[in-house]
Amino acid sequence: MVQRGVFATAPGKCILFGEHAVVYGAPAVAVAIEQRMTLTLTPSTAWTVNGMALHAAKHPHIVSLMDRWGGVDGLKPMDVVVGGALPPASGLGSSAALSAAFLRSLERMTDRSVSEDEAGRWAHLAEADAQHGRASPMDTSTSLLGGLVVLSNRKEEDLIHRYDRSLDTSEGTVTWSIHSLSAELGGVHLVIGNTGVHAPTARQVQQLAERFAQHPEQRQAIGAIEAITRRGLAALKAGDAEAVGHAMTENHIVLRSLGVSSEALERLIDAASPTSLGVKLTGAGGGGCMMALTRDPEATAEAIEAAGGTAMITTLGNHGAEASWLDA
Ligand code: MEV
Repeated sequence: MVQRGVFATAPGKCILFGEHAVVYGAPAVAVAIEQRMTLTLTPSTAWTVNGMALHAAKHPHIVSLMDRWGGVDGLKPMDVVVGGALPPASGLGSSAALSAAFLRSLERMTDRSVSEDEAGRWAHLAEADAQHGRASPMDTSTSLLGGLVVLSNRKEEDLIHRYDRSLDTSEGTVTWSIHSLSAELGGVHLVIGNTGVHAPTARQVQQLAERFAQHPEQRQAIGAIEAITRRGLAALKAGDAEAVGHAMTENHIVLRSLGVSSEALERLIDAASPTSLGVKLTGAGGGGCMMALTRDPEATAEAIEAAGGTAMITTLGNHGAEASWLDA
């Protein structure tokens, strides 16, 4: 019998509000973007990833998920080929999308379905392992669920509750309620500007933790971001794109004050600002990507490119990870 392969895709994400603060339990809002990770899984004689032998240090997310699945011994070896339109270490959630696509393809390949809650937990723990124990379930939930995702420190009555997550960190146990939000922002797009500077999330999260340890008064910024996120969320629910953009820019100002922006990010943000409703970095910062909410995506993309960035245009909210059989 010919053994068939599986093809999976999973979206990257942009964080509208709340990155970094969400690691400490504050609320955050993210959207699944059009740009996706692709992954094919085909039966083989040994486990490989893009032609190289599977290695725990090089492929921590895949190895972590295989362990939770029941270990390598319970799975037939496969070739994993990863591709798509998500640059790594750029704030677009490429590692979370890898986890989401791998999980969905394993489900299809082994004919075993994993509950939403379990998939969310496994993908989050893979991310937390890779980020030295400090990671929110924001990126993984957005890639798995798609659409618009809200993390909160409480169950939000007017949102669709999906599951809860908690994580023991060196600062104590952090808990999040994960929700989906259906919101319509007519006539606007996000334009993502990639600085091309790699900035690993684990390093950025660690640096902020050290900053908070040295300057505990700066933790007040978490409360400021929470207030902005709640205002931004209300604006999203009301379909008020101007107010959403305003809150994004405010959120960026607080992030900048925490030292997580960079010269390259500021250059692209300044370039995008005149044609946008709101601009901010997205993800861990230090490099990676910024994003602009705009009614004129072509003009904003041109401005970003003229300032040396690589622009990508996306709608807000796309479908979550999915897998299907490849033709034999
Ligand atoms: C990374 O996309 C966002 C951070 O908030 C880290 C996390 O949520 O795990 C910086």
